Amino acid sequence: MEIRIERNANPPAPPAWDKLLFGKHISPHMFMLNWRDGAWHDPRIVPVAPLPLHPAAKVLHYAQEIFEGMKAYRNPADNSLHMFRPRMNITRFNISAERMCMPPVDPALFLRALEILIAMDGAYVPPKPGSLYLRPTMIGDEPSLGVAASSTYLFYIITGPVGSYFKGGINPLYLKAETEYVRSAPGGVGYAKTGGNYAAALLPIKLAQKAGFDQIIWLDALTRTRVEEMGAMNICFVYADRVVTAPVMPKSDTILAGVTRDSVGQMVRDRGLRWVEESPVLAEIIADAASGALQEVFSCGTAAIVTPVGKIHAGGRDVTIGNGAEGPLTRELREALSAIHAGESEGHAEWRHPVPPAP
Ligand SMILES: Cc1ncc(COP(=O)(O)O)c(C=O)c1O
Repeated sequence: MEIRIERNANPPAPPAWDKLLFGKHISPHMFMLNWRDGAWHDPRIVPVAPLPLHPAAKVLHYAQEIFEGMKAYRNPADNSLHMFRPRMNITRFNISAERMCMPPVDPALFLRALEILIAMDGAYVPPKPGSLYLRPTMIGDEPSLGVAASSTYLFYIITGPVGSYFKGGINPLYLKAETEYVRSAPGGVGYAKTGGNYAAALLPIKLAQKAGFDQIIWLDALTRTRVEEMGAMNICFVYADRVVTAPVMPKSDTILAGVTRDSVGQMVRDRGLRWVEESPVLAEIIADAASGALQEVFSCGTAAIVTPVGKIHAGGRDVTIGNGAEGPLTRELREALSAIHAGESEGHAEWRHPVPPAP
């Protein structure tokens, strides 16, 4: 399908790179595609604008919505632009679509739309340590209040510049193992990137933050004894010979299969360590942290890359990980992955997808 382009005649100047706030700045163009009569129609790039949405639109009542979070980077050496492993996000988007009873988007069209959009709004891709955040989204937009899958959908992509997550330096996280609330259950939608998962997590995260924690560690819904993941990050446990993290599909349907998690897993194996995908038992994690066998804990995700965990609150007490500061493997992985993201590293060049010039 040919992508129609309507240029924004008055794009605003890009924001100051040192004052970027996550999610507040949206680039001047968006991609749009409509599903009706059983097929996708009218792929187009247009000036970003509010959506005309009927108040009865299915998404507003029954949350038929999915999204992705991915990034494009500017290579400091030659100013060229590239995405990080976009095909993984496109695949995950279509997995989410299937679970939420929505039509898949053709991966080739999806990728082409991203390429053109990033190239057209190239002036909004900040230099390192910033990046262009990409937010593909699909909503059921049929105006009808019956509880049923929508017969029409809107797929769109917006983008926006974001700064470094680590503006104030590297501050190890203080996490609460959440025993009252759960994020997802077997047979549910935990492995899908759908808005309801995030809405349901708002209250527990707010309560935890009010109590002084940075974030929550979600436990499994059935026994509340095994570690699953965090609000928007996966979590990994470092021992002398291995790094342990919870399994994802097809072994478990409760956890989001992070692109960063997959990348870190490969980097761990590159370093001769074992990468073990087995549900970590919280009581063992706490005992191993106390004995020193558990050396480091880090979270990983697109927004914060690799972030050290300094302290975990579980069973009514705090346990410090190592000496509470960032451990050596966490730092090494964070720096190495940031270099791969920027294009400064020869390693895993296959993870960078170059963005061709705008048409
Ligand atoms: C619930 C959840 N888990 C894990 C992740 C990490 O995934 P990724 O590395 O693809 O950003 C995210 C972020 O997208 C998330 O929202």
